[in-house]
Amino acid sequence: MNASSPSPAQNQASTATLYGGVTSRRVTVRDLAAAKQRGEKWSMLTAYDALTAGVFDEAGTPVLLVGDSAGNCHLGYETTVPVTMDQMVMLSAAVVRGTKRAMIVADLPFGSYQESPAQAMHNAARLMKEAGVGAVKLEGGERSARSIELLVEAGVPVMAHIGLTPQSVHALGGYPVQGRGDEAAHQLLRDAKAVQQAGAFAVVLEAVPAELAAQVTEQLAIPTVGIGAGVGTDAQVLVWTDFAGMTAGRVPKFVKQYANLRAVLGEAAREFAEDVRSGAFPAPEHTFH
Ligand code: KIV
Repeated sequence: MNASSPSPAQNQASTATLYGGVTSRRVTVRDLAAAKQRGEKWSMLTAYDALTAGVFDEAGTPVLLVGDSAGNCHLGYETTVPVTMDQMVMLSAAVVRGTKRAMIVADLPFGSYQESPAQAMHNAARLMKEAGVGAVKLEGGERSARSIELLVEAGVPVMAHIGLTPQSVHALGGYPVQGRGDEAAHQLLRDAKAVQQAGAFAVVLEAVPAELAAQVTEQLAIPTVGIGAGVGTDAQVLVWTDFAGMTAGRVPKFVKQYANLRAVLGEAAREFAEDVRSGAFPAPEHTFH
């Protein structure tokens, strides 16, 4: 075996469970394909920094998405539309540095791939070379198939994203559920088949009726990753700030909050301020002499 040959571990799709399974290397597209074969469901979380990504990686989350939801969940914008390639490269590089095992997927942001397959390739290469991610995600079904094909031919693993595509928020007039009614359902199925045919290794289904998402999942050989798409998909993704209770105000109906970090951090900040006001902090054990 020469220095550039894959190791036996890299060569083999893992048969161990994806969640917390093999830890000696990163999760690959082959592991995800094998999980679909054996009917193992898996979780994906977004991450936008090294610290948080490290927590999820240590917990065993097999795939982390540096989503362009960083726009509204991390960078203070109202939507994902303003997010730039430079921002995605910086955030993705941090997530890669903070993790050892998870597959890191990075979003191609709005305006970074819609012009042409060549533009998609140029920017996907930036995410792989400058940030070190293992795969990219882009929005669109039939309309993005040519770009997916070129990326896959060039060796870039692509996760597709259909149903509600948040980069089109202004064209959609908000974030409505997609795929309702016969024509919309048929279009979603066509989109799913088009991205699979183009070579995508997985597809996100966002905000679609559960029955339709289950039907798509049955008809595809690649894993489906649901968000607001019911229980019938192969995997589930949540935005970390939603699932951990960091988001201010209402969260979408499909979110389950597994923690209340906003309340915990707010309380910690109030206690700290009170200790400073009263002189209780710093105490002797926090003090040098
Ligand atoms: O940007 C993002 O976080 C996403 C998920 C909602 C799938 O695309």
